[in-house]
Amino acid sequence: MRKTLYIQLLLLSVVIGAITFVISLVVISWLPKVASEEGERIDAIYLFTSIICIVIFAIVAAVTIYAMFKFRAKPGELEDGKPIHGHTGIEIMWTLIPTILVTAIGIWSAIVVVQNDDLPDDHRIVAVQAQQFAWSFTYNDERDGLGGMQVGELVVRVNEPLELHMTSPDVIHAFWVPEWRQKQDVVPGITTFYRITPTEEGVFPIICTELCGLGHSVMRNQVRVLNDEAFEAWATEIRSAVDGGGETLGKSVFQNQGCAACHALADAGATGAIGPDLDSVLTGQSAEAIRQSIVDPNAVISEGFAEGVMPPYGAVPEDQLEALVDYLATAVGDGS
Ligand code: CUA
Repeated sequence: MRKTLYIQLLLLSVVIGAITFVISLVVISWLPKVASEEGERIDAIYLFTSIICIVIFAIVAAVTIYAMFKFRAKPGELEDGKPIHGHTGIEIMWTLIPTILVTAIGIWSAIVVVQNDDLPDDHRIVAVQAQQFAWSFTYNDERDGLGGMQVGELVVRVNEPLELHMTSPDVIHAFWVPEWRQKQDVVPGITTFYRITPTEEGVFPIICTELCGLGHSVMRNQVRVLNDEAFEAWATEIRSAVDGGGETLGKSVFQNQGCAACHALADAGATGAIGPDLDSVLTGQSAEAIRQSIVDPNAVISEGFAEGVMPPYGAVPEDQLEALVDYLATAVGDGS
């Protein structure tokens, strides 16, 4: 009798577990494709934890469903059930097994945190500035001749370990690339570190995940992970734009500082729609007015747009800012 009960419960658990497994881990993919070494380790823990949860859920659901049908009160049956004292064996089991499982998850997680924090000495360093409401990136070592170059979009090599040194001049932000899994706060007054080894080429979103003000939801950027050849071509392009100076530099600053994400500008092939269309608002504007709109965006707000959404771009190196103003003045302003 008892043996039949156990076999029935076991079969029910297996069926419920299998259905839950298929629905939650096979049919629905909750997370985007993983694209970093660190992310693979994190996903392995997610999978381990999910499987533990599914097994426990299956057992609890099986006992509940079994009891609902097997021990249902018969019509007209009104008396209380027999008083039963606890079962020491089961109590020890339901204390011991969860303790072992939670400890296992804890130990494995601690190992992964240490592994993910441990980057080989040979890695690229990029300084990240998070500012209401934009990201900017400065190549902080001499690799590929990019030392000191500031860009508005993160571009990295696939399989090259990367360390971001992150700072914020205003409030707390958080750097997150869903495909890389890792997430790190960017806190005013200190430098925080983000270590990653990208394993997949592609373009992935960078998302601010700390409520940081009015423009928090638009505080997005992207990281381009390139193979060696494409990365070197990009580095050459950036270097020559900076060396070339003048209009080439101005246009490159516009494209690389993320301006194009929010503004439309025909000459640069930009079609952003979050901020004013530069082809119309800058027409006939003097270089001075254009400069003011970049370093102090709240001084003049175009009709239909909100104050405080555009970040002040005072952090751009002076020669780059100069080139950007000249470029915009020539492209759409009054040319002065
Ligand atoms: Cu920065 Cu949210």
